[in-house]
Amino acid sequence: MSFRSFITDIPDIMNLDISGETENIMNFCKIGEDILSHPRYVEMKGYNHHGTVSCHYHSVFVAYMTYKACLHSDCNTVEATRAALLHDFYLYDWHIVKHDEYHAFYHPKEAKKNAEIYFGKLTGLQSDMILAHMWPMHLMPPKSKEGMILTAADKICASCDFIKLSEKFKPIYDRIDEVALHDACN
Ligand SMILES: [Fe+2]
Ligand SMILES: [Fe+2]
Repeated sequence: MSFRSFITDIPDIMNLDISGETENIMNFCKIGEDILSHPRYVEMKGYNHHGTVSCHYHSVFVAYMTYKACLHSDCNTVEATRAALLHDFYLYDWHIVKHDEYHAFYHPKEAKKNAEIYFGKLTGLQSDMILAHMWPMHLMPPKSKEGMILTAADKICASCDFIKLSEKFKPIYDRIDEVALHDACN
C-alpha cells in the first residue's frame, strides 16, 4: 500500500455513514470485545472528555478511525485497534481530578497502567502507541505507522468533538455498543 493510495482512501476511512459498515463494525467488535464489554471500560461513559462527549464515545470513535485507517495500509490492525481503544483509559474526570503533572502528559501513563491491569501485558507497539499519542504536545513522536495513525485519529476526532461533528459517528457508536454489550450477555 503506497502513501498515495492511502491518501486516496481517506474519504472511505472518514465515511461515517452506517450503511455499508456492517462488516467493519462486526470485525471491530470482535477485535475489542473483551475491552468493549468490560465494566471498567463501560465506566468511561460517565467521564466527560471534550465538552459533552464522553471519554467512552471519544475512545471508540478514535479506535474505529484507527481500525479503518489500518485496513487501508500495511499495519497491525488488531494490535493498533486495541491500543486505540485503550489510549485514554485513565478512568477519572480530568476536569475534577488533578495531578502534579498536567493531564496532557499524565494520562497516557495512567491509561497504559490501567490497560495492563485489566487486559494484560501490552506489546511494545501498543505501549508506545498509548504513551506517545499526545505528540506533538511532547517531544516523543510515535515509533510506528500505527502510532502515527492513532495520533492523527485522536486529533481529528478531538477536533470533531469541538465542532459537533462527532455526532455523525453516533449511529455506528450505538451499533458497536449494542453488539459489544449484547454479546457479553450471551
Ligand atoms: Fe489522550
Ligand atoms: Fe484521545
